[in-house]
Amino acid sequence: MRVAIFGTGYVGLVTGACLAEVGHEVVCVDVDAAKVDGLNNGVVPIYEPGLAPMVRASHAAGRLRFTTDAAAAMAHGEFVFIAVGTPPDEDGSADLRYVLAVARTIGRHLERPAVVVGKSTVPVGTADKVRAAIAAELEARGVEVAFDVVSNPEFLKEGDAVADCMRPDRIVVGADNPAAVARMRRLYAPFHRNRDRFVVMDVRSAELTKYAANAMLATKISFMNEIANIAERVGADVEAVRQGIGSDPRIGWHFIYPGAGYGGSCFPKDVQALARTARQHGHGAQLLEAVEAVNDRQKGHLFELVQHHYDRGEDEGVRGKVFAVWGLAFKPNTDDMREASSRRLLAQLWEAGASVRAYDPEAMDEARRIYGERDDLVLCGSAQAALEGADALAVVTEWKEFRSPDFARLQAALGDAVVFDGRNLYEPDEVEAAGLAYYGVGRGR
Ligand code: UGA
Repeated sequence: MRVAIFGTGYVGLVTGACLAEVGHEVVCVDVDAAKVDGLNNGVVPIYEPGLAPMVRASHAAGRLRFTTDAAAAMAHGEFVFIAVGTPPDEDGSADLRYVLAVARTIGRHLERPAVVVGKSTVPVGTADKVRAAIAAELEARGVEVAFDVVSNPEFLKEGDAVADCMRPDRIVVGADNPAAVARMRRLYAPFHRNRDRFVVMDVRSAELTKYAANAMLATKISFMNEIANIAERVGADVEAVRQGIGSDPRIGWHFIYPGAGYGGSCFPKDVQALARTARQHGHGAQLLEAVEAVNDRQKGHLFELVQHHYDRGEDEGVRGKVFAVWGLAFKPNTDDMREASSRRLLAQLWEAGASVRAYDPEAMDEARRIYGERDDLVLCGSAQAALEGADALAVVTEWKEFRSPDFARLQAALGDAVVFDGRNLYEPDEVEAAGLAYYGVGRGR
């Protein structure tokens, strides 16, 4: 089947690559000519396991093409995906500028019936606005073409996006027209595997489903961070508590890891946007506001531990100290630093007069882009290099290569022999046995 996708960001590119992988003919459109040129030459601008080879193979096979030419893409597509960004505006609402600009472009170029598929995470009611924008353009052109607008939210995780897309646990489709549902079924037939993954509903419910899923996951994380904060004060170990509750299938093992708070391009933005939508409809969503507030506080928690350690009188404070920081990306297997907890820690360390030697397996270019040259930041080529001349170590992202360091070597390298473990990767006893002071999240002090 023939698919046009507007937006070659994270969602658009992964979706396009996966649809091409199963044999559909995909044309991806983007306004960024340099990006389109790069993609046509095999340069994939984001780091995502498995994505680059897949893009190159489908491109070579002629099933995946990239263009800036919206008219050509529209001439191609019987399905037209909208996968452009919805960044938060100042008050936390999703900014629909790009989505609606694409809708108008679609209306300007639509010549024959198509299913317009909303992939971007958009507030409830956006599909109606998209439909109206397309209809207005058609009317201005004086043409009549039948089209459907369906909501098909994505549930990709960065770092696992290709696997999530190729092996989805559900495919949510919100549509008003059964014919559009039938066509979506055919498009996604290769992804069903051993059972039907389709969950069909009305458009608004599909739009809300996306926010509900992310808000639920964010709630689990903030809940555990709250328990961690209590554990710290009452002398309990949240890791034991986590083991103690996760085995209840109603609670489950996933997303109950306490840590330095959630980041990324989705949870912070989506929780705020949903709270905002609720408020606009006259409902103060207290739980969602608390989830956000707890997370915001949690991002500052590692620094609180740093202050706690250095304010105990055994040192003259944080000023002048050198911190090795392991992990800058908001989570492992990505180079994405949007809303990353590392950024809060770095800002607080600098504010307190400390300097940083940082290492991340993938996010070094991103860090260079964000911070440029500064005297109080050295971007290092390895985890080991980050330790050279450092007084303390802070671990912010749980990359595999940080999980089992040689603690004796750490002890020898770190001037103040102290580890701040923002993801509870280590066993406190083991770290302390090597002669290091250890601080985790929710593990007593
Ligand atoms: C999230 C959802 O997991 C996806 O299902 C969704 O499709 C996506 O948002 C989206 O809306 O596009 P993502 O932001 O890539 O995916 O990352 P997650 O793996 O969910 O991690 C989010 C953050 O939560 C990370 O900073 C991670 O460190 C943190 N986290 C996660 C915890 O602190 N504790 C946990 O137990 C789990």
